[in-house]
Amino acid sequence: MWRNWMWPVAGYGALSLTKKGRTMASPMMYSVPEISCEHCVTAITAEVTQVPNVASVEVNIDARTVTVQGGKSSQIVAAIDEAGYDAARIRGAATAEQQLDDGVVRVTRWTFPPGSETGAHVHQYDYVVVPITDGELTIEADGETTVAPLSIGVSYQRGKGVAHNVANDGDAPVAFVEVELLDN
Ligand code: NI
Repeated sequence: MWRNWMWPVAGYGALSLTKKGRTMASPMMYSVPEISCEHCVTAITAEVTQVPNVASVEVNIDARTVTVQGGKSSQIVAAIDEAGYDAARIRGAATAEQQLDDGVVRVTRWTFPPGSETGAHVHQYDYVVVPITDGELTIEADGETTVAPLSIGVSYQRGKGVAHNVANDGDAPVAFVEVELLDN
C-alpha cells in the first residue's frame, strides 16, 4: 500500500439520476454538533431555505446533521451560522483511477466530486500534478488549511514526504492526473 490512509471515509456519489433522466448534484451533508431539539430544526430550516437554489433541507436531530439539496456550500454554512450553530461539511471520498505503472512512473487520475477528500496520506515519491479541470483544492497539512488554485494544463511538482489531506470544498468537480516518479 503506497498511501497511508488515516481517515477512510465512506463515499457517496457525486451525481444521481432524476426521474426525468437529468443528472443533478447529490445532497450535501453538514455536521452540526449543537443540534438538540425541534427549535434547532425550525431555526436552521428557516435560514437554509432562504439560500438561493436550495431545493430541500432535512435536519436530523439524532445524527446532528443537516442534509441539503442544492445551493452553494459556503452559503449554507453561513446560513446555519446565522441560525446560531457551527456547521462543517461532511466529505465523501475522492476517487483514484490508476492508469499506468511501469516501475518508472505511476499515473493516477484523481477525481474530486464536490465535498470529497483523499484522506490524509504521505507521498512516497516525488510527483507531478497535471490539472485537467480549473478549480480550487483545500489542502490540510500540519493543522493548517490552505486553498490551492488549479488551472487546466498548468502542472506543478511536489517532493517525496509531503503529508496532507486534499479536499474539494467547492461546488463543482475537480480533477487532476498525478504522475509519481518511482525511480528516484
Ligand atoms: Ni497528495
